[in-house]
Amino acid sequence: MKKESTIYVTGSSGLVGTAVCRKLKEKGYTRVITLSHSDLDLTRQSDVEEFFAAEKPEYVFHAAGKVGGIYANATYPAEFIFQNLSMALNVIHSSYRNGVKKLINLGSSCIYPKLAPQPMREEYLLSGPLEPTNEAYAVAKIAAIKLCIFYNRQYGTEFLSTMPTNLYGPGDNYDLSGSHVLPAMIRKIHEARVSGSRVVLWGDGSPFREFLYSEDLADALIFLMENCRAVDIGDVINIGSGKEISIRDLSGLIAGVLGYKNGFDWDTSKPNGTPRKLLDISRLKNLGWVPKMDLKTGIGHAYKDFLARFGTRHA
Ligand SMILES: NC(=O)c1ccc[n+]([C@@H]2O[C@H](COP(=O)([O-])OP(=O)(O)OC[C@H]3O[C@@H](n4cnc5c(N)ncnc54)[C@H](OP(=O)(O)O)[C@@H]3O)[C@@H](O)[C@H]2O)c1
Repeated sequence: MKKESTIYVTGSSGLVGTAVCRKLKEKGYTRVITLSHSDLDLTRQSDVEEFFAAEKPEYVFHAAGKVGGIYANATYPAEFIFQNLSMALNVIHSSYRNGVKKLINLGSSCIYPKLAPQPMREEYLLSGPLEPTNEAYAVAKIAAIKLCIFYNRQYGTEFLSTMPTNLYGPGDNYDLSGSHVLPAMIRKIHEARVSGSRVVLWGDGSPFREFLYSEDLADALIFLMENCRAVDIGDVINIGSGKEISIRDLSGLIAGVLGYKNGFDWDTSKPNGTPRKLLDISRLKNLGWVPKMDLKTGIGHAYKDFLARFGTRHA
């Protein structure tokens, strides 16, 4: 990838997209195309085809998606499968038709079976039943991965699918009906600290999760775009921190960073989700990339961003 290459980042206003655009700018890339959802709805096939034919991007980071936590995934499965599937179909097929040199597809650790051995290796894809609460999202993501693999096989394209673990960082979604566990906890704990109330969290706190700072993910995605070929890697690669923490310990860590001291109640009528979700990141480490941000410092940065964006509104 040259500094003047035309690079298209889908979902450029999202958690991943903003981090990728920031990092590309920092690294001196000058021609980064970003379009808002209202400028180009990626579920609309003819609009996407028109855009690719006119702009001819050379490199694509497909970071647009409909994402959310357990509640949103379980409540809106039709929207999750339709939107993620149609965006992937349109972006991947148009990339092929218009000679994109390389595409990085954003998958997710949710694609692995609910009871996959831990840590989860790339080979575990489609080796068992999925977690039911996010099956619609996972099936769409798996279809996108398979699209990339089959296009590489039949057309010789360079489409690499990345499987990031749970992400957090500046620009995250703090809307409680759609947010992931870590940003949702930041908001709930912040609000309880301000109002002097006690936080109620879903489940019993026992599941283990892995978290990666969004800037670390962006760094890994650009590293892979610059240095690696899908065919050499095996078409799919995990991106994580390689470290796990229980939800209970995470709540304590966030409480410490935010200065919250009222304790937690656990609503065990709500689902826990998958018991453990840790990615095996040896494939990525062997390529020479390692994450830099530790969880406590990263939470501090995310909270600073939360306060700057919503501090007064949620106080
Ligand atoms: N966040 C995580 O923990 C996580 C973990 C693993 C993988 N991922 C994957 O990483 C990717 C990015 O996630 P994220 O956390 O950055 O999500 P996000 O913050 O919700 O951002 C999603 C982006 O996609 C855009 N978008 C959604 N529907 C669109 C459409 N029909 N047409 C055009 N743009 C559309 C959104 O624009 P609007 O906001 O304007 O709709 C936004 O810019 C997704 O594929 C997700 O599955 C995320």
